[in-house]
Amino acid sequence: MKILVINGPNLNFLGIREKGIYGETSYNDLISMIYQKARELDVEVECWQSNHEGAIIDKLQDAYFKKVDGIVINPGAYTHYSYAIHDALKALTMPKVEVHISDVDAREAFRHVSVTLPACDHQIKGHGLKGYLEAMDYLAGKNLG
Ligand code: DQA
Repeated sequence: MKILVINGPNLNFLGIREKGIYGETSYNDLISMIYQKARELDVEVECWQSNHEGAIIDKLQDAYFKKVDGIVINPGAYTHYSYAIHDALKALTMPKVEVHISDVDAREAFRHVSVTLPACDHQIKGHGLKGYLEAMDYLAGKNLG
């Protein structure tokens, strides 16, 4: 099984940005956690990050050609307004999980809306970095009892 983990804008600044919200762990440490989890689940994983909307769309389209089996995506602030990322996700039929490190519903009103979630199968929010690992469990079918 091939899983693609996409992180959107500012997530490369984990451990630097708003530590009270996103924690002290760096993006590189998150990637190490994800690779460790992939070994445990015996799945292939690619981690990829971009601050650019069009690049994220290109990467999603690439997932179609590369026959990726499942996608974990944290679209960052694009979650709240990118209909273009919504459309790119909607075009893909493999399972997709939207992850938010913070509990977006407990924050500013603009974060309460996700325009990308309707194009995904599942959402995990407010579980910190372990939300990414839970999303991988979901894709690997480990949560299905
Ligand atoms: C985020 C929440 C978004 O509102 C924010 O713009 C982010 C990160 C999260 O992981 O909690 O960049 O997606």
